[in-house]
Parts: sequence; structure tokens; C-alpha cells
Amino acid sequence: MLQTLHRVTILGPRLSFGSRPFSVSSILRANRAVVYTQTGDPSQVLTTVTYDALPSPAPDTLNIRFLLAPINPADINVVQGVYPAKPSLTSLVEGHEVFVGGNEGLAEVVQVGTGVSGLTSGDWVVMTKAQAGTWASSRNVRPQDVLRLPRADGLTEVHGATMTVNPPTAYNMLNDFVTLEKDEWVMQNGANSAVGQAVIQIAASRGLKTLNLVRQRPDLDDLTRKLKALGATKVLTYDDLADRALTKTIVKDWTAGKGIRLGLNCVSGKDTTAMARLLGDDAYLVSYGAMSKEPLSLPTSLFIFKNLTTAGFWQSRWYKTHTREDKENLMRTLVDLVSQGKLKEPEHEILSIGAEESDEAAGQKIRDIITKMSAGQYGKKVLLRFEGAQ
Ligand SMILES: NC(=O)c1ccc[n+]([C@@H]2O[C@H](COP(=O)([O-])OP(=O)(O)OC[C@H]3O[C@@H](n4cnc5c(N)ncnc54)[C@H](OP(=O)(O)O)[C@@H]3O)[C@@H](O)[C@H]2O)c1
Repeated sequence: MLQTLHRVTILGPRLSFGSRPFSVSSILRANRAVVYTQTGDPSQVLTTVTYDALPSPAPDTLNIRFLLAPINPADINVVQGVYPAKPSLTSLVEGHEVFVGGNEGLAEVVQVGTGVSGLTSGDWVVMTKAQAGTWASSRNVRPQDVLRLPRADGLTEVHGATMTVNPPTAYNMLNDFVTLEKDEWVMQNGANSAVGQAVIQIAASRGLKTLNLVRQRPDLDDLTRKLKALGATKVLTYDDLADRALTKTIVKDWTAGKGIRLGLNCVSGKDTTAMARLLGDDAYLVSYGAMSKEPLSLPTSLFIFKNLTTAGFWQSRWYKTHTREDKENLMRTLVDLVSQGKLKEPEHEILSIGAEESDEAAGQKIRDIITKMSAGQYGKKVLLRFEGAQ
């Protein structure tokens, strides 16, 4: 029997909703969310709150329970207030408007309201609404804000939770700018990023070759082996590009003199300038990230004499400008690649928040990991899981 016991204070570094009564079962099987009320340094503004079980869904809405939600680099930028996409305020805890962190995630449908068709309890769904607030146990959403993820052999929760940002970015950048024939080359930096690893695998599935650039590191041989196991053709470090003449000769040799027509830029800065010099005639340099936080500067000669085209790609814009059917087709294509063993889970770590942990402890755990991620000390995708979600 539920028993109202004592008062629980929902506290964070900057956020306090005061004291309110909670039940034993609420404490052990809590609904949690990682929230903030103002943008800023995530180690200062993020906190964890507990909220009551959702009521049955109103007509034309549904209740979903998140199984896993990643912490992507862009999510941190959103909390910092330096990303173009903004979340909307929501009142998970009655009377208190907060932003809920997280854009991507895999959820299970718990209950559908009247008038909802095409979705049923137990279905897996991913978010089509940007900044949906996925760092939560459960949410009430509109059917148009989610997409049913087809189940397939080999499709794990980790695949599902990371299916709407990185693999589609890789897939679309390989398709939308240049029509590449089998055996053509693609060059990319940040090749060990989650997007980069998806590029390697999707390119390999199409018979494309990849020249992959990464930062120098003590365990470079291990990383090279790992990327090659995913299907990378060649791996170089940015330092290898220092000798321009030598790199040109090596690359010409690998590509049998055929110019590389697609370059993908995750980092910007001077290493990307060096990479662009290795592109062939009529190539596209597509930028999707700026991990070095440096601007991108390109020699004018590349535009005049090699007819270089530069472009940006943003998966969020793709979602805004494409139909629901396009999105379903894209998800089905990616799920098919997974079931054919051609798209593996990203290397990851699951950050579990136990149902018995206090909001304070949970908040600290999340702030600590985000601080490490912001400092570039994390080589793996981190995914949040709230245990005991209702
Ligand atoms: N435009 C879009 O639609 C879109 C979609 C998805 C992702 N993105 C962006 O793509 C980037 C990668 O995302 P992800 O989820 O794949 O990230 P991730 O798996 O966390 O990988 C981050 C990558 O950035 C590299 N990196 C970090 N700091 C760097 C620096 N100072 N100089 C050079 N390289 C550095 C890392 O290399 P080390 O291993 O050497 O640290 C790693 O390769 C982010 O900027 C993200 O916002 C954009």
C-alpha cells in the first residue's frame, strides 16, 4: 500500500522546489529528469528532480518511458546556451517550469490516448521533435513528435538510442552532396567520433573507401586497428599532414591518382585546411562539427583552380525540411544496415541512475560526467538510464 512518509527536498546547485510529500513507492521507483532553469555551465546549472508518475494520456497523446538517452556534444552546447536549437520550458513538477536536457533517445510506448493510431504499448519510438527533453524517465508526448522504430535482429537499445543523430548525419552527408561510385574515396577528420565511425561503416557498406584522420595519441595503433575493423581503408594523423608533398604522393598512390571528391569536416581549424588541400578537383568539403573550436580558413586557390565547393550539414535542418515518410525511410534503411551487421553500436558507457539514489547524488553523477566530457576526457558515448522508471 502506498504510504505518504516524509518530505523530500528536490535540490540542485541552483534549483530548489522546496519540500513536498512523497510516497515510499515514489522514492524507490522514481520518475527523474535532468533539468535546468537557466543556460550556463552544466556543472552549475544542471540538477536532477523527481516527479510523480504520469497520469493516463489525454486524447491524441501518449506516455512513453525512456530506455536510454545519450549525452551528445551538442546537448552540452544547448545547456550552455551556445547552440542554435533551444528547448522549450515544461512543467514536469507542478508549478515549476524547467528545461529538460537531451535531444535524442529511445523510448517505449507505455500507454496511448484515444485517437492515437499506428502506435501501441511496447513499441519502440525515437524522437522527431528537436530538443524533446530525453534525459527523463517518462514523458507525455504527441504522436507526431515520435517515430516508431522497426524492430530487427541485432537492433539493441543502444542502437535505438543513438539512431536519430549520428548515423543519419553520416548517411546523408555521404548521399546529399556528391554521387560517389563504388571504390571512390571519402576523406574525413574526427574519424573516431561517433559520426566518423558511422561514416566509415556506411561508406564500407557501399563499397566506398575512406581516408580517416585522427589526433595523434599513445594508443594510435589500437585506434587504427579499431577503425579498420569497422571498415576504414586508411588512417592518418593530422601530424602526418605536416609534410605536404609526401602526403600528396602517398594519397595519390592510394587513390591511383583519382581525386577525392568528398571531404567531411568534424573539427575545423588548421588541420582541416591541410585536409582540404588533399581533395581533388570539383570536390565538396562538408562541415558538420567544429570540435577544435577554431574557425575554418581555406586558401582561395582551392576555389579558383580546383573548383572546391564548401557546404554545411545539420541533421536538425534535414528533419525540419523532410517529410515523415522520408524520416521513416531513413530509419528503416539504418535499421536494415544494423540487422545486416553493417552498423555497429557506438563504443559507449551506460550511466545508470539507481532508483534508490537521491536526486542530489544523481545530479552530481551527471554533472561530473558532463564536466569530463566537456574537457574532452571521454572517448565513449555516454548514455543515461534511469532505473525503476514508472
Ligand atoms: N551537423 C550535424 O547534424 C551533427 C550531427 C551529429 C554530430 N554533430 C557534431 O559532430 C561532432 C562530433 O559528434 P559526435 O557525437 O560524433 O562526437 P564524439 O563521438 O564525442 O567525438 C568527438 C570527436 O571530436 C574530436 N575532438 C574533440 N576535441 C577536439 C579538438 N580540440 N581537436 C580535434 N578534434 C577534437 C575527438 O577526437 P579525440 O578522440 O582525439 O578527442 C572525437 O573524434 C560534434 O561537434 C557534434 O556536435 C553534428
